[in-house]
Amino acid sequence: MLSQLHRIGIMPSGRDTMSTDMTNHPHVLDGVAIASEIKAEVGREVAALSAKGITPGLAVILVGNVAASEIYVRSKVKTCGELGIFSEMLTPPESITTEEMLDLVAKLNARDDIDGILIQLPLPKHVDTKRLLEAVSPDKDVDGFHPVNAGRLQSGQPGLAPCTPAGIIEILKRSKLPIAGQNAVVLGRSDIVGKPAALMLLNESATVTVCHSKTRDLPAVTRNADILVAAIGRPGYVTAEMVRPGAVLIDVGINRLTDAADVERFFAGDAARAATFAKRGSVIVGDVHPAAFAISGAYTPVPGGVGALTIAMLMHNTVKAAKLRRGIPVGRA
Ligand code: GUN
Repeated sequence: MLSQLHRIGIMPSGRDTMSTDMTNHPHVLDGVAIASEIKAEVGREVAALSAKGITPGLAVILVGNVAASEIYVRSKVKTCGELGIFSEMLTPPESITTEEMLDLVAKLNARDDIDGILIQLPLPKHVDTKRLLEAVSPDKDVDGFHPVNAGRLQSGQPGLAPCTPAGIIEILKRSKLPIAGQNAVVLGRSDIVGKPAALMLLNESATVTVCHSKTRDLPAVTRNADILVAAIGRPGYVTAEMVRPGAVLIDVGINRLTDAADVERFFAGDAARAATFAKRGSVIVGDVHPAAFAISGAYTPVPGGVGALTIAMLMHNTVKAAKLRRGIPVGRA
């Protein structure tokens, strides 16, 4: 793969190659394959802990009946089972109060068989999400959402990092794509993805720019990116005009299209997507327009890219939390 990346011109020395060698197809960064690799590694770590009589444990709190959240949570619990991680699902009703949720979290914080606590978001409007996320013990915060873990990431101390940005770094590293010295542009500044992704890229010595809704002349900024991370939640927002040919595109968006005109706008001539739309009445598109992928050096597809890594990194964080809590040395994902 390394030689292929040289050929398509996304290695550090390849700026000229990038703009001249346009005959090659972009490289698809297979999130599913990378996630499988990480899960296999986590499974081996769980087995090693098991030999010491330790079983990592994850508690997942799912409030109410949000269909998308139920699917995510089921998938998280199933993956725990596959890797030998103990999991417990708590399903309080939609009517639960903030105080009752705080009580639930306090009990999980105190349990020795629970290493990770995940509160599936979004929570009902009447529940104080910020207060709850801060109530989770930072040492069990496998989502990496607690301000203490945000601070640890900021200051380069060991801690638990948010799963989606950590997955982005894993994709880049495991695909042998260079980060140090690259111009990385992050589109979006959310606490969950944009900000931590920018910090992690900076920690890997990229030159990082964070863009948002107030950024002036956005295409001029994004065209400067060697690595462009799109995390704004707007279907196909990053067009080919916003991308330098040969750049690496990391698409964090998961947007559902239900309008036939939108499907045609993004996927004209794509028979597979048309068939999916005919069958299901919807298709998924990321934040990057397919025409931008076509001129990139490498890209993460949607689905099958960054999204596939999130659960793998959650499993990684659960085992990491189990080790950190017991003073056992922690390796790379
Ligand atoms: N809802 C959607 N994605 C996530 C996630 O990564 N963690 C939590 N806790 N809730 C989510």
